[in-house]
Amino acid sequence: MTVRTVRIAMNGVTGRMGHRQHLVRSLLALREQGGLDLGDGTALVPEPVLVGRREHALESLAARYGLHEWSTDLDAVLADPTIEIYFDAQVTSARETALKKAIAAGKHLYTEKPTATGLDGALELARLATRAGIKHGVVQDKLFLPGLLKLKRLVEGGFFGRILSVRGEFGYWVFEGDWQEAQRPSWNYRAEDGGGIVVDMFPHWEYVLHNLFGRVTSVQAHATTHIPRRRDERGKPYEATADDAAYGIFELEGGALAQINSSWAVRVHRDELVEFQVDGTEGSAVAGLRRCRAQHRAATPKPVWNPDLPATERFREQWQEVPDNGDFDNGFKAQWELFLRHVALGTPYEWDLLAGARGVQLAQLGLRSSAEGRRLTVPELSL
Ligand SMILES: NC(=O)c1ccc[n+]([C@@H]2O[C@H](COP(=O)([O-])OP(=O)(O)OC[C@H]3O[C@@H](n4cnc5c(N)ncnc54)[C@H](O)[C@@H]3O)[C@@H](O)[C@H]2O)c1
Repeated sequence: MTVRTVRIAMNGVTGRMGHRQHLVRSLLALREQGGLDLGDGTALVPEPVLVGRREHALESLAARYGLHEWSTDLDAVLADPTIEIYFDAQVTSARETALKKAIAAGKHLYTEKPTATGLDGALELARLATRAGIKHGVVQDKLFLPGLLKLKRLVEGGFFGRILSVRGEFGYWVFEGDWQEAQRPSWNYRAEDGGGIVVDMFPHWEYVLHNLFGRVTSVQAHATTHIPRRRDERGKPYEATADDAAYGIFELEGGALAQINSSWAVRVHRDELVEFQVDGTEGSAVAGLRRCRAQHRAATPKPVWNPDLPATERFREQWQEVPDNGDFDNGFKAQWELFLRHVALGTPYEWDLLAGARGVQLAQLGLRSSAEGRRLTVPELSL
Protein backbone atom coordinates (compact mmCIF):
# COMPACT_ATOMS: atom_id res chain seq x y z
CA MET A 1 0.00 0.00 0.00
CA THR A 2 1.28 3.50 -0.79
CA VAL A 3 1.80 5.62 2.31
CA ARG A 4 0.73 9.24 2.34
CA THR A 5 1.50 11.29 5.44
CA VAL A 6 -0.66 14.12 6.69
CA ARG A 7 1.03 16.54 9.05
CA ILE A 8 -1.24 17.78 11.82
CA ALA A 9 -0.40 20.56 14.27
CA MET A 10 -1.97 19.58 17.60
CA ASN A 11 -2.45 22.43 20.05
CA GLY A 12 -3.47 21.83 23.67
CA VAL A 13 -2.21 18.28 23.48
CA THR A 14 -0.94 18.22 27.06
CA GLY A 15 -4.52 18.59 28.34
CA ARG A 16 -6.97 15.84 29.25
CA MET A 17 -8.75 15.66 25.92
CA GLY A 18 -5.85 16.54 23.66
CA HIS A 19 -3.59 13.93 25.21
CA ARG A 20 -5.78 10.91 25.89
CA GLN A 21 -8.55 11.08 23.33
CA HIS A 22 -7.04 12.89 20.37
CA LEU A 23 -3.35 12.05 20.48
CA VAL A 24 -3.26 8.58 22.04
CA ARG A 25 -6.65 7.04 21.31
CA SER A 26 -7.08 8.63 17.87
CA LEU A 27 -4.00 9.66 15.92
CA LEU A 28 -1.40 7.40 17.55
CA ALA A 29 -3.87 4.52 17.35
CA LEU A 30 -4.26 5.25 13.63
CA ARG A 31 -0.49 5.24 13.19
CA GLU A 32 -0.22 1.93 15.03
CA GLN A 33 -2.75 0.32 12.73
CA GLY A 34 -0.67 1.43 9.73
CA GLY A 35 -2.72 4.49 8.88
CA LEU A 36 -6.18 5.07 7.50
CA ASP A 37 -7.02 2.93 4.49
CA LEU A 38 -8.36 5.37 1.91
CA GLY A 39 -9.67 2.54 -0.24
CA ASP A 40 -7.54 3.43 -3.29
CA GLY A 41 -4.38 1.60 -2.29
CA THR A 42 -3.25 4.49 -0.09
CA ALA A 43 -2.79 4.51 3.67
CA LEU A 44 -3.03 7.98 5.21
CA VAL A 45 -0.65 8.20 8.16
CA PRO A 46 -1.03 11.15 10.55
CA GLU A 47 2.15 12.86 11.67
CA PRO A 48 1.45 14.91 14.80
CA VAL A 49 3.41 18.08 15.50
CA LEU A 50 2.80 18.97 19.14
CA VAL A 51 2.11 22.62 19.91
CA GLY A 52 1.70 24.25 23.30
CA ARG A 53 2.95 26.77 25.81
CA ARG A 54 5.32 24.71 27.93
CA GLU A 55 8.39 23.38 26.17
CA HIS A 56 9.23 20.87 28.87
CA ALA A 57 5.75 19.34 28.88
CA LEU A 58 5.75 19.02 25.09
CA GLU A 59 9.22 17.55 25.01
CA SER A 60 8.41 14.87 27.55
CA LEU A 61 5.09 14.06 25.85
CA ALA A 62 6.85 13.70 22.51
CA ALA A 63 9.55 11.50 24.04
CA ARG A 64 6.94 9.31 25.71
CA TYR A 65 5.33 8.49 22.37
CA GLY A 66 8.42 8.50 20.17
CA LEU A 67 7.45 11.73 18.39
CA HIS A 68 10.08 14.16 17.20
CA GLU A 69 8.40 17.44 16.54
CA TRP A 70 7.03 19.95 18.98
CA SER A 71 6.91 23.71 19.20
CA THR A 72 5.83 26.56 21.46
CA ASP A 73 5.61 28.88 18.45
CA LEU A 74 2.16 28.51 16.90
CA ASP A 75 2.83 31.17 14.25
CA ALA A 76 5.92 29.37 13.02
CA VAL A 77 4.08 26.05 12.87
CA LEU A 78 1.23 27.63 10.92
CA ALA A 79 3.73 29.18 8.52
CA ASP A 80 5.08 25.71 7.73
CA PRO A 81 3.58 24.75 4.35
CA THR A 82 3.96 21.02 5.08
CA ILE A 83 1.36 21.25 7.88
CA GLU A 84 -2.05 20.48 6.37
CA ILE A 85 -4.33 20.42 9.40
CA TYR A 86 -4.53 22.48 12.59
CA PHE A 87 -6.19 20.78 15.56
CA ASP A 88 -7.22 22.64 18.74
CA ALA A 89 -7.93 21.15 22.19
CA GLN A 90 -6.80 24.14 24.22
CA VAL A 91 -8.86 25.65 27.00
CA THR A 92 -11.99 27.11 25.44
CA SER A 93 -11.00 30.74 26.05
CA ALA A 94 -7.83 30.36 23.94
CA ARG A 95 -9.52 28.71 20.96
CA GLU A 96 -11.01 31.46 18.83
CA THR A 97 -7.78 33.40 18.36
CA ALA A 98 -5.85 30.28 17.42
CA LEU A 99 -8.52 29.07 14.99
CA LYS A 100 -8.54 32.44 13.26
CA LYS A 101 -4.79 32.24 12.78
CA ALA A 102 -5.08 28.74 11.35
CA ILE A 103 -7.79 29.84 8.91
CA ALA A 104 -5.70 32.82 7.84
CA ALA A 105 -2.79 30.43 7.25
CA GLY A 106 -5.02 28.32 4.98
CA LYS A 107 -4.90 25.16 7.11
CA HIS A 108 -7.78 22.73 7.28
CA LEU A 109 -8.99 22.68 10.82
CA TYR A 110 -10.43 20.28 13.31
CA THR A 111 -11.33 21.48 16.77
CA GLU A 112 -12.77 20.60 20.13
CA LYS A 113 -16.02 22.21 21.13
CA PRO A 114 -17.13 24.84 22.03
CA THR A 115 -15.60 26.58 19.01
CA ALA A 116 -15.81 30.03 20.63
CA THR A 117 -17.05 31.65 23.81
CA GLY A 118 -19.91 33.50 22.06
CA LEU A 119 -22.20 33.00 19.07
CA ASP A 120 -20.83 35.97 17.11
CA GLY A 121 -17.32 34.56 17.35
CA ALA A 122 -18.46 31.05 16.45
CA LEU A 123 -20.35 32.27 13.38
CA GLU A 124 -17.48 34.46 12.31
CA LEU A 125 -15.19 31.43 12.40
CA ALA A 126 -17.65 29.47 10.25
CA ARG A 127 -17.86 32.32 7.75
CA LEU A 128 -14.09 32.88 7.61
CA ALA A 129 -13.43 29.18 7.10
CA THR A 130 -16.04 28.87 4.38
CA ARG A 131 -14.70 31.93 2.59
CA ALA A 132 -11.15 30.58 2.84
CA GLY A 133 -12.29 27.33 1.23
CA ILE A 134 -10.66 25.18 3.88
CA LYS A 135 -12.14 21.98 5.29
CA HIS A 136 -13.32 22.27 8.87
CA GLY A 137 -14.71 19.96 11.50
CA VAL A 138 -15.81 20.13 15.13
CA VAL A 139 -15.63 17.26 17.62
CA GLN A 140 -19.08 15.77 18.17
CA ASP A 141 -17.83 12.58 19.76
CA LYS A 142 -21.00 11.51 21.56
CA LEU A 143 -22.59 10.67 18.20
CA PHE A 144 -20.02 7.94 17.75
CA LEU A 145 -20.56 6.25 21.10
CA PRO A 146 -21.84 2.67 20.88
CA GLY A 147 -24.90 3.45 23.03
CA LEU A 148 -25.96 6.38 20.87
CA LEU A 149 -25.17 4.58 17.61
CA LYS A 150 -27.53 1.81 18.70
CA LEU A 151 -30.13 4.39 19.70
CA LYS A 152 -29.80 6.01 16.27
CA ARG A 153 -30.32 2.61 14.69
CA LEU A 154 -33.61 2.31 16.59
CA VAL A 155 -34.69 5.80 15.48
CA GLU A 156 -33.82 5.09 11.85
CA GLY A 157 -35.55 1.71 11.98
CA GLY A 158 -38.78 3.38 13.08
CA PHE A 159 -38.79 1.52 16.40
CA PHE A 160 -40.27 4.38 18.44
CA GLY A 161 -43.27 5.33 16.33
CA ARG A 162 -43.88 8.98 17.17
CA ILE A 163 -41.18 10.15 19.55
CA LEU A 164 -42.74 11.91 22.51
CA SER A 165 -39.91 12.74 24.85
CA VAL A 166 -36.22 12.40 25.60
CA ARG A 167 -34.92 12.51 29.14
CA GLY A 168 -31.20 12.81 29.70
CA GLU A 169 -29.30 12.50 32.93
CA PHE A 170 -25.66 13.50 32.84
CA GLY A 171 -23.23 13.96 35.65
CA TYR A 172 -21.15 12.75 38.52
CA TRP A 173 -19.55 14.17 41.61
CA VAL A 174 -16.54 16.35 40.87
CA PHE A 175 -14.54 16.60 44.05
CA GLU A 176 -14.10 20.04 45.51
CA GLY A 177 -10.33 19.68 45.74
CA ASP A 178 -10.05 19.97 49.51
CA TRP A 179 -9.89 16.48 50.97
CA GLN A 180 -9.75 14.76 47.58
CA GLU A 181 -8.26 16.17 44.38
CA ALA A 182 -10.76 17.44 41.78
CA GLN A 183 -10.88 15.20 38.71
CA ARG A 184 -11.57 18.10 36.32
CA PRO A 185 -9.39 21.17 35.65
CA SER A 186 -10.24 24.19 37.82
CA TRP A 187 -10.88 26.52 34.82
CA ASN A 188 -14.12 24.56 34.28
CA TYR A 189 -15.52 26.27 37.40
CA ARG A 190 -14.47 29.84 36.54
CA ALA A 191 -16.71 31.72 34.10
CA GLU A 192 -13.92 34.20 33.31
CA ASP A 193 -11.78 31.30 32.03
CA GLY A 194 -14.50 29.86 29.76
CA GLY A 195 -15.83 27.39 32.36
CA GLY A 196 -19.36 26.32 33.24
CA ILE A 197 -21.45 23.23 32.63
CA VAL A 198 -23.81 24.99 30.20
CA VAL A 199 -20.94 26.11 27.98
CA ASP A 200 -19.40 22.66 28.26
CA MET A 201 -22.42 20.37 27.87
CA PHE A 202 -25.11 22.23 25.91
CA PRO A 203 -23.02 22.03 22.70
CA HIS A 204 -23.07 18.25 23.16
CA TRP A 205 -26.82 18.20 23.78
CA GLU A 206 -27.41 20.34 20.69
CA TYR A 207 -25.78 17.92 18.27
CA VAL A 208 -27.07 14.80 20.04
CA LEU A 209 -30.67 16.03 19.94
CA HIS A 210 -30.32 17.51 16.45
CA ASN A 211 -28.74 14.43 14.88
CA LEU A 212 -31.01 11.88 16.54
CA PHE A 213 -34.37 13.57 16.97
CA GLY A 214 -34.54 17.02 15.38
CA ARG A 215 -33.21 20.55 15.68
CA VAL A 216 -33.70 22.31 19.01
CA THR A 217 -36.28 25.07 18.52
CA SER A 218 -36.53 26.44 22.06
CA VAL A 219 -34.68 26.24 25.34
CA GLN A 220 -35.61 26.84 28.92
CA ALA A 221 -32.82 26.32 31.40
CA HIS A 222 -32.01 26.86 35.01
CA ALA A 223 -28.28 26.99 35.63
CA THR A 224 -26.85 27.18 39.10
CA THR A 225 -23.65 26.89 41.09
CA HIS A 226 -24.18 24.28 43.78
CA ILE A 227 -20.59 24.31 45.06
CA PRO A 228 -19.49 27.95 45.37
CA ARG A 229 -15.91 27.39 46.54
CA ARG A 230 -13.37 24.88 45.30
CA ARG A 231 -9.64 24.31 45.46
CA ASP A 232 -7.47 24.42 42.36
CA GLU A 233 -4.63 22.20 41.13
CA ARG A 234 -2.29 23.78 43.69
CA GLY A 235 -4.72 23.38 46.56
CA LYS A 236 -5.53 27.11 46.56
CA PRO A 237 -9.17 28.02 47.32
CA TYR A 238 -11.08 29.91 44.63
CA GLU A 239 -14.62 31.14 44.02
CA ALA A 240 -16.54 28.99 41.55
CA THR A 241 -17.95 31.73 39.32
CA ALA A 242 -19.38 29.34 36.72
CA ASP A 243 -22.45 27.13 36.85
CA ASP A 244 -21.87 23.52 37.86
CA ALA A 245 -25.40 22.25 37.20
CA ALA A 246 -28.06 23.02 34.61
CA TYR A 247 -31.61 21.77 34.30
CA GLY A 248 -32.83 22.24 30.75
CA ILE A 249 -35.97 21.70 28.70
CA PHE A 250 -35.64 21.70 24.91
CA GLU A 251 -38.40 21.68 22.28
CA LEU A 252 -37.44 19.81 19.14
CA GLU A 253 -38.44 20.13 15.52
CA GLY A 254 -41.03 17.42 14.97
CA GLY A 255 -42.68 18.03 18.31
CA ALA A 256 -40.71 15.92 20.80
CA LEU A 257 -39.68 17.40 24.13
CA ALA A 258 -36.29 16.83 25.69
CA GLN A 259 -35.33 17.41 29.27
CA ILE A 260 -31.70 17.07 30.26
CA ASN A 261 -30.11 17.45 33.67
CA SER A 262 -26.39 18.15 33.66
CA SER A 263 -24.51 18.26 36.93
CA TRP A 264 -21.05 18.00 38.43
CA ALA A 265 -22.66 17.93 41.86
CA VAL A 266 -24.63 14.70 41.66
CA ARG A 267 -23.77 11.18 42.78
CA VAL A 268 -24.32 8.43 40.27
CA HIS A 269 -27.17 5.97 40.78
CA ARG A 270 -27.36 4.97 37.14
CA ASP A 271 -25.64 2.43 34.95
CA GLU A 272 -23.60 5.01 33.03
CA LEU A 273 -22.42 8.61 33.45
CA VAL A 274 -24.89 9.76 30.85
CA GLU A 275 -28.18 8.11 30.00
CA PHE A 276 -31.01 9.10 27.68
CA GLN A 277 -34.48 7.63 27.90
CA VAL A 278 -36.55 7.98 24.75
CA ASP A 279 -40.27 7.31 24.87
CA GLY A 280 -42.33 6.85 21.75
CA THR A 281 -45.79 5.59 20.93
CA GLU A 282 -44.43 2.22 19.75
CA GLY A 283 -41.55 1.71 22.15
CA SER A 284 -38.98 3.16 24.51
CA ALA A 285 -35.24 2.88 24.91
CA VAL A 286 -32.56 3.82 27.40
CA ALA A 287 -29.13 4.50 25.95
CA GLY A 288 -25.87 5.23 27.72
CA LEU A 289 -22.31 5.54 26.50
CA ARG A 290 -22.09 1.87 25.60
CA ARG A 291 -25.39 0.12 26.21
CA CYS A 292 -28.85 0.53 24.84
CA ARG A 293 -31.93 -1.25 26.09
CA ALA A 294 -35.38 -1.19 24.56
CA GLN A 295 -38.94 -2.04 25.47
CA HIS A 296 -41.50 -2.49 22.73
CA ARG A 297 -45.14 -1.50 23.07
CA ALA A 298 -46.16 -5.14 22.81
CA ALA A 299 -43.85 -6.10 25.67
CA THR A 300 -44.73 -3.20 27.97
CA PRO A 301 -45.92 -4.36 31.40
CA LYS A 302 -48.83 -2.63 33.10
CA PRO A 303 -47.65 -1.26 36.45
CA VAL A 304 -50.36 -0.17 38.85
CA TRP A 305 -49.66 2.57 41.37
CA ASN A 306 -49.98 1.20 44.90
CA PRO A 307 -47.63 2.67 47.46
CA ASP A 308 -49.04 0.39 50.17
CA LEU A 309 -47.29 -2.65 48.73
CA PRO A 310 -43.59 -3.21 48.01
CA ALA A 311 -42.72 -3.25 44.30
CA THR A 312 -42.83 -6.79 43.03
CA GLU A 313 -41.68 -6.11 39.49
CA ARG A 314 -38.04 -5.86 38.53
CA PHE A 315 -38.47 -2.99 36.12
CA ARG A 316 -34.92 -3.02 34.74
CA GLU A 317 -35.26 -6.68 33.79
CA GLN A 318 -38.23 -5.89 31.57
CA TRP A 319 -35.98 -4.35 28.90
CA GLN A 320 -34.20 -6.00 26.02
CA GLU A 321 -30.53 -5.39 25.27
CA VAL A 322 -30.02 -3.90 21.80
CA PRO A 323 -27.21 -5.98 20.22
CA ASP A 324 -24.00 -4.40 18.95
CA ASN A 325 -24.21 -6.10 15.54
CA GLY A 326 -20.71 -4.87 14.79
CA ASP A 327 -17.51 -3.51 16.30
CA PHE A 328 -17.36 -0.03 17.70
CA ASP A 329 -14.11 1.90 17.66
CA ASN A 330 -13.28 4.80 20.00
CA GLY A 331 -15.74 7.61 19.18
CA PHE A 332 -13.07 10.30 18.87
CA LYS A 333 -11.03 8.11 16.52
CA ALA A 334 -14.09 7.25 14.43
CA GLN A 335 -14.77 10.96 13.91
CA TRP A 336 -11.12 11.74 13.16
CA GLU A 337 -11.20 9.07 10.46
CA LEU A 338 -14.22 10.68 8.82
CA PHE A 339 -12.57 14.08 8.95
CA LEU A 340 -9.31 12.79 7.48
CA ARG A 341 -11.26 11.15 4.64
CA HIS A 342 -13.02 14.46 4.09
CA VAL A 343 -9.65 16.22 3.81
CA ALA A 344 -7.98 13.56 1.67
CA LEU A 345 -10.87 12.51 -0.56
CA GLY A 346 -13.42 15.30 -0.29
CA THR A 347 -16.07 12.94 1.14
CA PRO A 348 -19.04 14.77 2.70
CA TYR A 349 -18.70 15.91 6.29
CA GLU A 350 -21.52 17.61 8.13
CA TRP A 351 -20.09 18.34 11.59
CA ASP A 352 -18.42 21.60 10.62
CA LEU A 353 -17.97 25.05 12.18
CA LEU A 354 -21.59 25.98 11.45
CA ALA A 355 -22.69 22.87 13.35
CA GLY A 356 -20.24 23.94 16.08
CA ALA A 357 -21.82 27.41 16.15
CA ARG A 358 -25.23 25.83 16.81
CA GLY A 359 -23.74 24.31 19.97
CA VAL A 360 -22.37 27.66 21.11
CA GLN A 361 -25.74 29.27 20.31
CA LEU A 362 -27.62 26.78 22.48
CA ALA A 363 -25.21 27.33 25.37
CA GLN A 364 -25.52 31.10 25.07
CA LEU A 365 -29.32 30.97 24.89
CA GLY A 366 -29.40 28.46 27.75
CA LEU A 367 -27.50 30.86 29.99
CA ARG A 368 -29.70 33.76 28.92
CA SER A 369 -32.85 31.74 29.53
CA SER A 370 -31.61 30.97 33.01
CA ALA A 371 -30.66 34.56 33.79
CA GLU A 372 -33.96 35.94 32.48
CA GLY A 373 -36.12 33.12 33.82
CA ARG A 374 -37.90 32.47 30.52
CA ARG A 375 -38.12 30.16 27.55
CA LEU A 376 -36.24 31.32 24.46
CA THR A 377 -36.66 30.48 20.79
CA VAL A 378 -33.57 29.09 19.10
CA PRO A 379 -33.35 30.73 15.65
CA GLU A 380 -32.02 28.61 12.81
CA LEU A 381 -28.46 29.63 11.92
CA SER A 382 -27.07 30.22 8.48
CA LEU A 383 -23.82 31.64 7.21
N1 LIG B 1 -15.49 16.43 23.44
C1 LIG B 1 -15.55 16.24 24.74
O1 LIG B 1 -16.21 15.34 25.22
C2 LIG B 1 -14.82 17.16 25.67
C3 LIG B 1 -14.65 16.79 27.01
C4 LIG B 1 -13.94 17.64 27.85
C5 LIG B 1 -13.43 18.84 27.36
N2 LIG B 1 -13.65 19.17 26.06
C6 LIG B 1 -13.10 20.45 25.53
O2 LIG B 1 -11.72 20.28 25.31
C7 LIG B 1 -11.03 21.48 25.65
C8 LIG B 1 -9.91 21.15 26.63
O3 LIG B 1 -10.47 20.62 27.82
P1 LIG B 1 -9.59 19.73 28.82
O4 LIG B 1 -10.55 19.17 29.79
O5 LIG B 1 -8.70 18.82 28.04
O6 LIG B 1 -8.72 20.87 29.53
P2 LIG B 1 -7.26 20.81 30.15
O7 LIG B 1 -7.18 21.92 31.12
O8 LIG B 1 -6.93 19.43 30.61
O9 LIG B 1 -6.31 21.10 28.90
C9 LIG B 1 -6.23 22.38 28.34
C10 LIG B 1 -5.06 22.49 27.37
O10 LIG B 1 -5.01 23.85 26.91
C11 LIG B 1 -3.71 24.38 27.16
N3 LIG B 1 -3.83 25.83 27.39
C12 LIG B 1 -3.68 26.77 26.42
N4 LIG B 1 -3.87 27.98 26.93
C13 LIG B 1 -4.16 27.84 28.22
C14 LIG B 1 -4.47 28.76 29.28
N5 LIG B 1 -4.49 30.06 29.04
N6 LIG B 1 -4.73 28.25 30.50
C15 LIG B 1 -4.72 26.92 30.72
N7 LIG B 1 -4.44 25.99 29.75
C16 LIG B 1 -4.16 26.46 28.52
C17 LIG B 1 -3.18 23.57 28.30
O11 LIG B 1 -1.77 23.61 28.34
C18 LIG B 1 -3.71 22.17 27.98
O12 LIG B 1 -2.90 21.55 27.02
C19 LIG B 1 -12.08 22.45 26.17
O13 LIG B 1 -12.42 23.36 25.16
C20 LIG B 1 -13.28 21.58 26.49
O14 LIG B 1 -14.51 22.25 26.28
C21 LIG B 1 -14.31 18.36 25.22
